[in-house]
Amino acid sequence: MKKIVKFGIVGLGRLGRAHAENIAFKIPNAKLIAVCSIDEREVEEVQNSWGIEYGYTDYDEMLKNKNLDAIFVSSPSGYHCEQIKKALDAGFHVFSEKPLGLYLEDALEAMEAVNSHNDKIFMLGFMRRYDRSYAYAKKKIEEGHIGKPVLIRCYGLDPAPAMEGFLKFAKNSYSGGLFLDMAIHDIDLARWYMDSEIDKVWAIGGAYEYPEFNELNDAETGAAMAKFKNGTMGIFVAGRNCAHGYHIETEIIGTKGTLRIGTTPDKNLVTVFDDRGINKECAGGFLERFEDAYLQEVKEFVDCVLNNKKPNVTVEDGVLSTIAGYAFKESFETGELVEVKY
Ligand code: NAI
Repeated sequence: MKKIVKFGIVGLGRLGRAHAENIAFKIPNAKLIAVCSIDEREVEEVQNSWGIEYGYTDYDEMLKNKNLDAIFVSSPSGYHCEQIKKALDAGFHVFSEKPLGLYLEDALEAMEAVNSHNDKIFMLGFMRRYDRSYAYAKKKIEEGHIGKPVLIRCYGLDPAPAMEGFLKFAKNSYSGGLFLDMAIHDIDLARWYMDSEIDKVWAIGGAYEYPEFNELNDAETGAAMAKFKNGTMGIFVAGRNCAHGYHIETEIIGTKGTLRIGTTPDKNLVTVFDDRGINKECAGGFLERFEDAYLQEVKEFVDCVLNNKKPNVTVEDGVLSTIAGYAFKESFETGELVEVKY
């Protein structure tokens, strides 16, 4: 009989709905049989549009469904840790969106839960590792193409049109701040490419267009310089007010060459020649830029569940990136160079 992983997903928002659609229609060995959200209309809409068998507004009720094999957590970050633990305790494999938790204690609790259910597959959504270009760059490094990586430079800039939505969200909820919420993807990539943990960091930032960030004790745009334990270096730029779009760019300088990923964050291969001159449009947001990566990471998870393999992104990656992210935050808040304590 063909082996299938039957999923229930919690969270049907901006990203959850896209994940749900991938599981329902784009992954051959996966089936979406249950959806859960506190918003009843979302549940009904997805159930009716796609013919999904089970719908829940209560997460604990979904966990009673023994037809499920795996739970996909795409709810707001503050719920991840608790929902991961409950799903593992109920006997399911778990894929969780990043972050593991908003606080280090949560991330550590989630790690403890994952490690005490060693027979279950757990994977965290650091999807950039599954983006074709980022994966290709990793392969080039492993093949020795650029010699030994020496410095990584990362840009993670959210598009300015997302600002209003972000400020509304951040005034009512704790986002973790610029470095933990946004730069966490770059922190994970940097650890992966440089094959080392961050040792020391100095982070700065400010509010330049939106004074609200001062009230939130957060940065609208920030930068950080880091030293890794193996002596290599990192430069991080993160921001939420990028006028031209969603700008994700990474450069890895090695002893024998350099790799650049997304040097210009193009929307596609089209160049527009018109009365404004010669233009290339920019990717508009994460769903557009990482559309394929969101699919590939879940394919990897399904493959791991079916073949009892451990995924490339582990719960430890989530914890170590969170520890580093909190050091970035501490440095930004105190103005001091911070040594990361693991
Ligand atoms: P969202 O706010 O658009 O959607 C949240 C969903 O969860 C909604 O369907 C809401 O009704 C539901 N929900 C809220 N509380 C719930 C509860 N207690 N039980 C069940 N459902 C509940 O959020 P968005 O933007 O989709 O983000 C979800 C997660 O994905 C966040 O943790 C975020 O950090 C992460 N994310 C990751 C990205 C990546 O690049 N990997 C990009 C964007 C978000």
